[in-house]
Amino acid sequence: MASSWLDFWNGSHRIYVNARHAQVHYAKIAADFIALIPSADAIVVHWGCGEALQALTVAAHCRCLVLCDAASAIRGRLTERFAASTEPDAAKIAVCSPEDLRTRYVGGIDLFVVNSVLQYLSLAELDQLLADVRALLAPGGSLVVADVIPRHDDLVSDVRNLLATAWAKGFFIAALFGLAATFFSRYRTLRNTVGLARHDEAEFLSGLRAAGFTAARLQPNMGFDQRRMAFRATLR
Ligand SMILES: C[S@@+](CC[C@H](N)C(=O)[O-])C[C@H]1O[C@@H](n2cnc3c(N)ncnc32)[C@H](O)[C@@H]1O
Repeated sequence: MASSWLDFWNGSHRIYVNARHAQVHYAKIAADFIALIPSADAIVVHWGCGEALQALTVAAHCRCLVLCDAASAIRGRLTERFAASTEPDAAKIAVCSPEDLRTRYVGGIDLFVVNSVLQYLSLAELDQLLADVRALLAPGGSLVVADVIPRHDDLVSDVRNLLATAWAKGFFIAALFGLAATFFSRYRTLRNTVGLARHDEAEFLSGLRAAGFTAARLQPNMGFDQRRMAFRATLR
């Protein structure tokens, strides 16, 4: 399942309908992320970070921000951006692949955030991720998995949520054009063929517990879509 979605994220796409949409999205994710950081001394991971447009804002609130993404094209852009940055907080940002992450920071991560990525993972990849997180978390550290699509969600709800956010944040017309473009896009083809992984709340909590975590639902969810679910887990 993941390789086709990974190709999608490695290529060019129009998931964000315009610059305003991307800016509004990343600003909200950064604010929600900062609220989770336990202390200014924390080492935090954003796994499946995407373009992380507000990474500097997040980095200002912790000791080290590790940006991890499976898409090599995204990692390349992030590495270039922060190597060229003269902002002091850029020195706190590290970029790495999920494979590299496994061998670095073992037992040293205070907060591990996975936002809006689970829909692209197979169950085997999710199991691997949980095993990795177990090895990476510091004592007292926590995993937050957010924007998990509930089992009975559908495309209509996604469209409704995008339009509501667009209306509130001033990019409604661009969102309408974006939706029309999505109709003919690779995103829609992949969504119809490969699909997006969905999860049931109770099953997801038992999966976290079976993987060795103490877990609970976390509210609100990160981002704008409160139909989607967030969970916090700590090592048991
Ligand atoms: C919808 S974006 C979410 C970006 C970011 N977390 C946010 O909330 O703005 C999904 C991201 O997950 C990444 N991704 C997809 N499959 C992955 C995998 N198997 N391992 C790590 N990252 C993955 C994609 O490359 C993409 O950057």
